Amino acid sequence: MAKEGELNKSLFQHTDKSLLDDKLTTKKLEINLRRNKEQDNVDELDLLSSQFNFEDCRDEYWNPEKYSLLYATPLWHASSPSQKVLLNQLYWVAYYSQIISAEIATIFLNQTSAAGLYSLEDFRLVCDTLDLESSQERGHIHAFKTISEQVEEKLFGHRLFTYPMKNYATETMIFQNTNRVKKFWKSIQLNAYNLLSSNNAFIACQYFTVRGLRTLNGKIVQHELSQFYENHKDKENAPIPSKISYHHFLDESYHFNSSSIIGHDVVHTLKAPTKFESAIANLGIQGCQLDHQNFNISVNGIFWYEPAVFPVIYQILRSPYFEYDHVSALRMMESCFIQENQAMHLAYETHKIAKESYQQYVSGLPYLSKNNREMKYMTRASIEQYIKINKRAFKGFEDKSEQYLYSNFSRGLPRDSSREREQSESRLKLF
Ligand SMILES: [Fe+2]
Ligand SMILES: [Fe+2]
Repeated sequence: MAKEGELNKSLFQHTDKSLLDDKLTTKKLEINLRRNKEQDNVDELDLLSSQFNFEDCRDEYWNPEKYSLLYATPLWHASSPSQKVLLNQLYWVAYYSQIISAEIATIFLNQTSAAGLYSLEDFRLVCDTLDLESSQERGHIHAFKTISEQVEEKLFGHRLFTYPMKNYATETMIFQNTNRVKKFWKSIQLNAYNLLSSNNAFIACQYFTVRGLRTLNGKIVQHELSQFYENHKDKENAPIPSKISYHHFLDESYHFNSSSIIGHDVVHTLKAPTKFESAIANLGIQGCQLDHQNFNISVNGIFWYEPAVFPVIYQILRSPYFEYDHVSALRMMESCFIQENQAMHLAYETHKIAKESYQQYVSGLPYLSKNNREMKYMTRASIEQYIKINKRAFKGFEDKSEQYLYSNFSRGLPRDSSREREQSESRLKLF
């Protein structure tokens, strides 16, 4: 007789391997799920976002100083103390807008992967873990969205980094080197991958290697963001966004553990992959590498394609908070993005650290191609290449830069409504 919940080997089964036979992995999963349930930060995050009022913390830093928009660039050095505070807060908005996008995808993929894994005996524990994590991600998104949208609305009256809720099958990197054809192709690939992961346990497990890599990148930055609150002299009165960074990081450390256990340990309880399954697994990692092949100085720590951020930076420089005119805004952008400066070295260093940690993370996975094991696409990044790309893109950007003052359709978002346009125009009169 099998113990309750275990694979019943006296009856016919499709497999003789059971996850529950691997006592060590099961124990790790049980502990991770139990502790995550006990520490779940979603109620605290809901409370914090409901209490958020931008006016209460608009004069303070929300992150350690180096986590500021365009930190260590000529713009940063030319900024007044109050402009630096704004750049610090906008880093928070920009950074977590990207995290929202990643977590929208995570919720969907947790669910399709759980569907794929639940087709095996004994995977209830894994699927319960994923259910809890999905509901936590919804709480995280709610907190990030509440703060980011309030800030953009109050300061600019329109979106800069945020976006209306979107489908999971869109570019995860919200500032990407893309166009309509690439976007369409990406959504086909994602939909195909999802269909495969919900039907195939090995591919479902592979998603966790990709998720682990993405979380690894997040962990590097989010740990430091959480330290701002951790080291704050007056914790109770610390700015709410810094408290959110802290509580989010607590939940995420459990997500990283589960990615690691599922992607590294659970996968061994499955049959060895077929050539097709290995090829799909490699495509998944390659997709992650391609998403992370660039570094940028606007938001050091997120691997956006810099030219895609130009319109937003231009709008910020032309806003009443910086008061640059058209020509001086473009000249400042040139000196930030095209002339070698300290920020480029810092961002390149972050990218290098991420690449090395990814290489280490995938080193024990035998089915990975050389390209993926060595993170070849990420290895191509260099400061020379970064400047070359920016120089080329900047020429085209200069000609149409002024149009970005009136709209935010640079990212393929819908045109502003006539009301928003009117608001943009009336704000423009202030400049
Ligand atoms: Fe999260
Ligand atoms: Fe997460």
